[in-house]
Amino acid sequence: VSKSRHLHEPLKTTQQTQLPIGVFDSGVGGLTVLRALRSQLPDEKFIYLGDTARLPYGTKSASSVERYSVQAARFLVSRGIKCLVVACNTASAVALSALRAAFDPLPVIGVVEPGAAAACAASRTGHIAVLATEGTVRGGAYQRAIARLRSEAVVYAQPCSLFVALAEEGWNEGAIAETIARRYLQEILNDGRIDTLLLGCTHFPVLTPAIARVVGSEMGIVDSAVTTAAVLAEELRRHGLQATGEAAPAPRLMATDSPERFARVGSRFLGETFAAAQVELVDLGTP
Ligand code: DGL
Repeated sequence: VSKSRHLHEPLKTTQQTQLPIGVFDSGVGGLTVLRALRSQLPDEKFIYLGDTARLPYGTKSASSVERYSVQAARFLVSRGIKCLVVACNTASAVALSALRAAFDPLPVIGVVEPGAAAACAASRTGHIAVLATEGTVRGGAYQRAIARLRSEAVVYAQPCSLFVALAEEGWNEGAIAETIARRYLQEILNDGRIDTLLLGCTHFPVLTPAIARVVGSEMGIVDSAVTTAAVLAEELRRHGLQATGEAAPAPRLMATDSPERFARVGSRFLGETFAAAQVELVDLGTP
């Protein structure tokens, strides 16, 4: 028995390393994370699911977000993945442990811990403002993650729900974006000690130029994409799951609603143009 196991194990491992990494978000926001993952891990294959039919997650209750997240993850797992990246702060903040429990032993990586690490490394004063969705702020996951890494840090958490709509609408620059940013960031600017803004929502990086115009060049602006890629690389290494061989094909993209809109809006987030025909419309079942 043990002999035949030995014969089969290496084959299984090779097949596993060649499986894609599953990535999901409520919509196109997680494509900002996918972009960083691809650039840092060019040999890896990715499949991405945007749950656009149920966006936004950020204003929904924790129990709905947890249910949606488990459904999205189950769908990706059914397609065959070796690792799951939750490229949504709201889902990472409320559903990470449920996902780890439901899909054990699949490695599951969220964006909150990597985002907190990026902010703690960037801040000199230790006064950090987290801009996120209502759900992420309410759950306090960022406040806890930052406190674990830097106990003296002072965290100011600001819900910026309209940023999601602006980013999805493509109104990421210009007068409207800046007016809304000014309103959300007023107290942060008045504080005077905050030196780092953490974009705690994967939709927000496309708003960076508008936010930077409002806060000025002295304020550091960080997001979780690059640190998440580093965590993923380490996790793949730890599990012996790194892909080997040729450069991977373009990511496989899926959405639960309107591939046309997903392609039109998502191209800006991914940083390259893709067509609706490249986006598969999928059904996750009853909400
Ligand atoms: N992109 C998601 C996040 O990182 C939130 C967008 C939404 O509200 O669905 O939190």
